Amino acid sequence: MQEPVFNFENVRKILVAADGSDCGMHAAEQAIGIAKLLDAQLIVVYVVDEIALDQVFKVSERDEAEKELKKVGQRCINYILEQAKKECVKNTSLLAKLAKGRPFEQIVHLAKQLKIDLIVIGTHGQRRAERVLIGSVAQKVIEYAPCPVLVVK
Ligand SMILES: Nc1ncnc2c1ncn2[C@@H]1O[C@H](COP(=O)(O)OP(=O)(O)OP(=O)(O)O)[C@@H](O)[C@H]1O
Ligand SMILES: [Mg+2]
Repeated sequence: MQEPVFNFENVRKILVAADGSDCGMHAAEQAIGIAKLLDAQLIVVYVVDEIALDQVFKVSERDEAEKELKKVGQRCINYILEQAKKECVKNTSLLAKLAKGRPFEQIVHLAKQLKIDLIVIGTHGQRRAERVLIGSVAQKVIEYAPCPVLVVK
């Protein structure tokens, strides 16, 4: 059977993945604008990157680093929620998730679990390697997402 044609008007739930980077913030701005336009629910997710924590920090520093990343994530989420409220997205339409694990897995898992209609992500994130067209989290989300993905520069 043919896939149904994607229709913006049917988008009820939008998931925006934010990592605190400028590009992630651009993605959030776009997601807020679309949520407002379509009167859709906006779910904001920040993933505390467990693999990065394990690779970068010594065992003795890891717990402290995780606490710090959670704070960064919560601040990032709160900022986006504030922006959404300023843009008059209804409180009842806003949801925030501070997840933990591999970022792409958590984003895709949440999209499946919440039956998300559209994922919004940035092309790049915190690392923003020179001359890389698109980051690895963005690539994997596009590959495994259960729904269309809007990638914002
Ligand atoms: N930890 C995270 N939590 C939520 N969203 C994330 C996270 N990491 C990345 N993203 C989303 O994916 C987008 C692209 O980031 P990505 O991590 O792929 O690029 P990068 O950091 O430049 O490169 P890489 O991580 O591959 O070295 C971000 O703008 C954001 O929307
Ligand atoms: Mg990254």
